Amino acid sequence: MNRDLCVYAGSFDPVTTGHLDIIRRGAAIFPRMIVAILCNPSKKGAFSMEERLSMLKKSCADLPNVSFDSFDGLLADYLRKKEAGIILRGLRNFSDFESEFQMAQLNRQLNPDIETFFLMASPEHVFVSSSAVREIAMFGGDISPYVPAHIAEEVARKLRPIK
Ligand code: PNS
Repeated sequence: MNRDLCVYAGSFDPVTTGHLDIIRRGAAIFPRMIVAILCNPSKKGAFSMEERLSMLKKSCADLPNVSFDSFDGLLADYLRKKEAGIILRGLRNFSDFESEFQMAQLNRQLNPDIETFFLMASPEHVFVSSSAVREIAMFGGDISPYVPAHIAEEVARKLRPIK
């Protein structure tokens, strides 16, 4: 178990500027970070695992201490496998707090070596979520404030294929 290694897990369907805010700030605190994409076979996302990974990698190319992976099953088990001691999470609001509080408690019961470390979302990212990005893009809205500029067009094209 290693407190120098944190895991930032999520669906990243797609990665948003809110996720990237947490990744960048976390990478400045922890010596090493794994960004781990949840591979959930029962929930088909809008983007494939390869697309999510590629978008994440493109967006974090300048962060040498951040690596990328995918996982299935319990996050607590994934940390055990990687010998990582920290789960990094972002908090946007009170409803995040409720679910995150529960998840942190459960994860620590499942793996007592884990601590969950929270970063408060920067104000400009408080309203950003992957599901909102998907919905805005699907109906032709401008998603450029919510996803990195270099993938905005790619994301919009994928989510609104019929013109
Ligand atoms: O992108 P999200 O929805 O914020 O990510 C949530 C995630 C992937 C961190 C969470 O759903 C998770 O850890 N799933 C793996 C299964 C698991 O460990 N569940 C028990 C947590 S209480």
